[in-house]
Amino acid sequence: MIRKSNVRNNRTKLYHKLINNKLVYNNKSLNRYKKDINQNLTNKSKEKLSKLADLKISINSIRNCELKKNATNLVFSDGNPYAQIMIIGEGPGANEDKEGKPFVGRAGKLLDKMLEAIKLDRKNVYISNVVNFRPPMNRKPTDVEIKRYLPFLVKHIELIKPKILLLLGSTALNALIGDEVVISKARGKWVNKKIGNVKPEIIASFHPAFLMRQPDQKKYAWEDLKMIRKKMSELKIKLND
Ligand code: URA
Repeated sequence: MIRKSNVRNNRTKLYHKLINNKLVYNNKSLNRYKKDINQNLTNKSKEKLSKLADLKISINSIRNCELKKNATNLVFSDGNPYAQIMIIGEGPGANEDKEGKPFVGRAGKLLDKMLEAIKLDRKNVYISNVVNFRPPMNRKPTDVEIKRYLPFLVKHIELIKPKILLLLGSTALNALIGDEVVISKARGKWVNKKIGNVKPEIIASFHPAFLMRQPDQKKYAWEDLKMIRKKMSELKIKLND
């Protein structure tokens, strides 16, 4: 007979795994006076975090998905959920799959350098991908897979409500702007398009993995980054220290 408390414990463990909350067992007594890190959050901010956690749970509940079947971890996001700049990549690679975080491999290191060049870091941006599970052998996600994950991505963007949305590479560009555009033509231009119920300033640029293969294209990515910096000052986007 399966005991009710076991089922509850397993569900709690799964929930904590999903929100990347590592359960650490130790025998130190609890400090009940310790500050709750969420204590200073407004109700609206707490609601945002809870809706993001719900979204993560619904992505993880996807069924009959080849990507999920072959992946180790769900890769949901990294960065600051209150940031006004959101970045969308293609999909997790091997390192991301292992760590459950986007852009932690070589392409991620280059992305960090690109952000640093315009005085940004992961505290000032929020990062996710078109698909949240690693495509096997790092292949591109198929059109069917992209379509399947698109409602989650749109919901994700609606919850973050970024003022600036940076699309890295053709997969993110095509998923959110449309199929008929190529990245080399579409990059470096501000696009006005409603995504779900939000209307961020959208710009596409080259994916860092492409820039590693074609370093001569970095000069164009640099142009795009400067456009973002300029837009940030126009929109008076404040940065967190
Ligand atoms: N490439 C992506 O598009 N996303 C990642 O998270 C890592 C590499």
